[in-house]
Amino acid sequence: MRTEPTPASPVHMIDLIRKKRDGHALDARELAFLAAGAASGSIPAEQLAAWLMAAWIRGLSLDEVRALTLAMRDSGDKFSPARLGKAAVDKHSTGGVGDKTSFLIAPLAAACGVAVPMISGRALGHTGGTLDKLESIPGFRTALTLSEFETVLDRCGCSIVSQTPSLVPADRVLYALRDLTGTVENSGLICASILSKKLAAGLDALVLDVKTGSGAFLQNPADSEFLAALMVATAEAAGTRTVALLTDMGQPLGSAAGNWIELVESIALLRNQRPPQSEDLRELSLILAGWMIHFGGKAESPHSGYQLAEAALQDGTALALFFRMIEAQGGDGSVFDDTARFHSPGATAFLPAWDSGYVSEMDTTQIGWAVQRTGAGREKAGEQVDPHAGILFHARRGARVEKGQPIATLYATREEMLAEPLALLRSAIQLSKTPPHAVVPLVGRIFTRENAEAHLRDAVR
Ligand code: URA
Repeated sequence: MRTEPTPASPVHMIDLIRKKRDGHALDARELAFLAAGAASGSIPAEQLAAWLMAAWIRGLSLDEVRALTLAMRDSGDKFSPARLGKAAVDKHSTGGVGDKTSFLIAPLAAACGVAVPMISGRALGHTGGTLDKLESIPGFRTALTLSEFETVLDRCGCSIVSQTPSLVPADRVLYALRDLTGTVENSGLICASILSKKLAAGLDALVLDVKTGSGAFLQNPADSEFLAALMVATAEAAGTRTVALLTDMGQPLGSAAGNWIELVESIALLRNQRPPQSEDLRELSLILAGWMIHFGGKAESPHSGYQLAEAALQDGTALALFFRMIEAQGGDGSVFDDTARFHSPGATAFLPAWDSGYVSEMDTTQIGWAVQRTGAGREKAGEQVDPHAGILFHARRGARVEKGQPIATLYATREEMLAEPLALLRSAIQLSKTPPHAVVPLVGRIFTRENAEAHLRDAVR
């Protein structure tokens, strides 16, 4: 029989495993013990893994998710942006293919007077990573100390860095174990993992881009909505103003998926060019930046935030700030003077249309794997990525193509690395004789503190 510990009694990990295994909820003191033990190494990996599997199977209550998020946030150092004298607002995306909005959003929001302390991740699996993309700029440093981070933020209004070893160490341990034990896909664990890192950065507000569609992490729309509402309710309960937008990942965002080629696409937009293939990227970046500017107190509404962001795009202020940030983080911005000259992929191939028709379906997860196989991504944490590898898309969903016309250009590290991504891409794209009927909106449901709790209550019922 399970015995309840009294408030003062010591906590034992074996009891927490049994309790979760039997479907009971842990309290805040027990979850604080678990997070601190994961961070310090005092709880063995086997016990943490067993608890994670029990939590995956039994689920976590809303109170448990809140308590675990805070306990993980408090497991290491924290960043305090208060000294910057501006509202600190960040954006987090659940990951996708060709998702490069950070390069636009960070300088756009900074240009409008918001501080953007962005702690980003690396490519893993079928999704790309902001840090790998930035590191394709020669000299660019993403591993800054917290004091260097603050200096760049002071000078540029935005900075994009990697997580330091001392920030949320509990997540570092738990995430690695989840990856090994098949316990990643659980909304409570995902929420605690993402938000603990965002809350440790001391943000005033947070904009969440939760992807849906064939390239999303959670492909069932109801799961994406639940995660979005859960993250909003959890962050709001911790005092951080938060919105989550469900956005389409049913095709790559913009025209480039890789590392260097994604930066080139972003710089073209910051230079106020309007390539039609990049319109969705431009629009989503302005919408997300609009929310950040609104939450940062610089615009009455997300819509007026959008307009301010668009003005900062058109007058070149955001571009200048992005170059200032590159320089402040040690990067050589002159490589953007002649982007074609700097691009030196090992091998290039085209995917021609195999028939005349319309691009009707894109399996974006498979497209993400094709990008990874060119050498642009990694299968296992720690692997090297090729800055010059990736895929450029010449046709989007709904586009008319003629037989033989190139649908995509592939850049790989070596010639022999082209066959697999070409085959993956060929089978990920469907052509039909008639245009696809359904027009998928770029932005779907939006969750804020006004509707998140109600959505969770209805979803739980
Ligand atoms: N990204 C994270 O940081 N954590 C998760 O659990 C999933 C995605």
